[in-house]
Amino acid sequence: MRILVTGAAGFIGSNYVRYVLSEHPNAYVVALDKLTYAGNLANLAEFAKDPRFEFVRADICDTEAVGDAIAGCDALVNFAGESHVDRSVIDPAAFVRTNVEGIRVLMEAARAHGLQRVVHVSTDEVYGHVPVGSADEDARLAPRNPYSASKAGGELLALAYFTSFDLPVMVTRGANTIGPFQYPEKAIPVFVTNAIEDKPLPIYGEGKAVRNYMYVCDHCAGIDLVLHKGNPGEVYNVGVEFEVNTLTLATSILDLLDKPRSLMRLIEDRPGHDYRYSLNSARLEALGWQPQYTFPEALAETVNWYVENEDWWRAIKSGGYGEYYERNYAERLARSRPVAAG
Ligand code: NAD
Ligand code: TYD
Repeated sequence: MRILVTGAAGFIGSNYVRYVLSEHPNAYVVALDKLTYAGNLANLAEFAKDPRFEFVRADICDTEAVGDAIAGCDALVNFAGESHVDRSVIDPAAFVRTNVEGIRVLMEAARAHGLQRVVHVSTDEVYGHVPVGSADEDARLAPRNPYSASKAGGELLALAYFTSFDLPVMVTRGANTIGPFQYPEKAIPVFVTNAIEDKPLPIYGEGKAVRNYMYVCDHCAGIDLVLHKGNPGEVYNVGVEFEVNTLTLATSILDLLDKPRSLMRLIEDRPGHDYRYSLNSARLEALGWQPQYTFPEALAETVNWYVENEDWWRAIKSGGYGEYYERNYAERLARSRPVAAG
């Protein structure tokens, strides 16, 4: 199978390339990425000489480049996206362009080239805040920030290509994902790398927001199962049950690194913060998926990777990253509060 993997130089995309090339000896991967601030060729460096791998630098909104890359492919798995909620609050434009218009370009190309399987990777955030219980795939979509709204738009457009044009599209809605190569803007890599540097861990609001953090290999296995066994036109949640709030998360990270809890700082909340996500993944489990990592195992693996790969994240943090960090955190950290002991 020749698979076009878009957004392949990002966090989950690069882990998915690793998963496919190790799990499927007959797979050939065409990895496409625009290399935005979040894309990093270092994430794919180990495949540079693999005869089953090639890299194309392109924008998914570029019809001609996407058409060239997709020619001869059997399948498409799309990870390309603007992915960070806080950046979407600061500047939504790139989110609408890539996460909606980019999907139109990809679906048009998949249709024109008669692809047999298309997986579009979406997010649990399209359900919005889930105060109680768990969202199954039929739950109402209620995105509340520009990131999740653009992802909801993109996935509905992708699914419309199934109903309108019989394109065999499947959508996955994954939970918060953690592991190697995650850009240090999401909570866990910010907390881990800041802790290593003895810098404050910026915790939004009172630190009570709940997430289900899933190890990236489990997410990739779920996406790959959908690619091979999913029903066209269907949506699949990919999530784990273990719930943890931000305060507990930060505490666990500090304990793993043997750092003082005084590094935790409560800062002004994220606007429109979704306080809880929760997924029912029974549909994917019925296809044979089960997460292989518990939350403590996933967190320990992740923390360990950042400890052992300082060169990777220090190269990012010493570049343009500082500007974003300053803009998102500086004022709020100046007004921050310590976490009460106990
Ligand atoms: P990421 O930000 O690490 O990577 C995104 C990649 O897409 C980058 O390599 C970037 O260069 C590329 N990209 C962005 N715009 C592009 C464009 N116009 N054309 C081509 N490439 C472009 O994100 P991630 O965490 O790996 O997430 C991948 C996908 O999975 C996203 O679509 C995201 O919405 C979704 N998702 C992420 C999570 C999570 O917890 N990280 C959970 C569920 C779903
Ligand atoms: P994040 O990793 O941005 O993922 P999500 O898209 O699910 O919000 O944030 C995870 C949780 O951590 C979320 O409740 C917001 C919180 N958070 C902080 O408290 N501080 C931070 O610096 C970041 C980035 C997130």
